[in-house]
Amino acid sequence: MNEVSTPATEAATVSVSGLKRVFPARSGPLVVLDDLSFELAPGDGLSIVGPSGCGKSTLLHILGTLDRPDEGTVEIGGQNPFQLSDTELSHFRNRNIGFVFQDHYLLPQLNVGENLLVPTLAAGEKASLNSEASIERAKQLLEWVGLQDRVDHFPGELSGGERQRVAFARSLILQPGLLLCDEPTGNLDPETAKSIGDLLIKIQKEQGATLIVVTHSMSLAERFDRRGYMENGRLRIE
Ligand SMILES: Nc1ncnc2c1ncn2[C@@H]1O[C@H](COP(=O)(O)OP(=O)(O)OP(=O)(O)O)[C@@H](O)[C@H]1O
Ligand SMILES: [Mg+2]
Repeated sequence: MNEVSTPATEAATVSVSGLKRVFPARSGPLVVLDDLSFELAPGDGLSIVGPSGCGKSTLLHILGTLDRPDEGTVEIGGQNPFQLSDTELSHFRNRNIGFVFQDHYLLPQLNVGENLLVPTLAAGEKASLNSEASIERAKQLLEWVGLQDRVDHFPGELSGGERQRVAFARSLILQPGLLLCDEPTGNLDPETAKSIGDLLIKIQKEQGATLIVVTHSMSLAERFDRRGYMENGRLRIE
């Protein structure tokens, strides 16, 4: 696997202060995040573990600007995304944040190469689907995740681990400063999960992204230099 030659975007700082998220429920308001604060330096790799339902995905959705906090502030790369207009926010999300979920969410009717280019559709002219730079980066990323000979395959023709590798390559196509992963090894057997863990560490070292990984796997969590535990609406980081 070769290193991707395109220079990576600068890794983002993440600064979260006094975050609160409350969901309405029949039994009364459910306080999921409660005065949650933490800071990450550019290039930090943070794992987050905690019991089911403690709010890990809720936190990632807010950091990914897919949901808004009820109280508190979020700054990514020095920018508070929730102060932006809806159009600016979509642009900000597209250019600065990569996502990988437990389910790969590849589009089944598109081949691997086409799936990689999907994020460039919304990213404006410079990174457009047909731009040579985007196609070249897609090729390099596929090589980097070891799937250069699968560019014409459809997701249904790949193993679970291979699909997740494609999902990682796709998340990196626009060189995000922040990569958010929600149980990226949740559906994989232990050996494949280990190889995806290797890829995550490699992403952190070589792709210049700040990385936040939610996981139920202690062996994966322990591989990151910063380890967080979520409980009672707060995040405690070692
Ligand atoms: N949109 C919503 N409306 C109401 N309640 C919600 C909503 N989203 C999440 N919740 C509740 O908030 C709590 C936290 O959910 P969240 O998905 O963040 O947990 P989690 O830590 O990711 O759990 P898991 O490890 O099982 O994925 C849960 O009790 C959930 O039912
Ligand atoms: Mg979750």
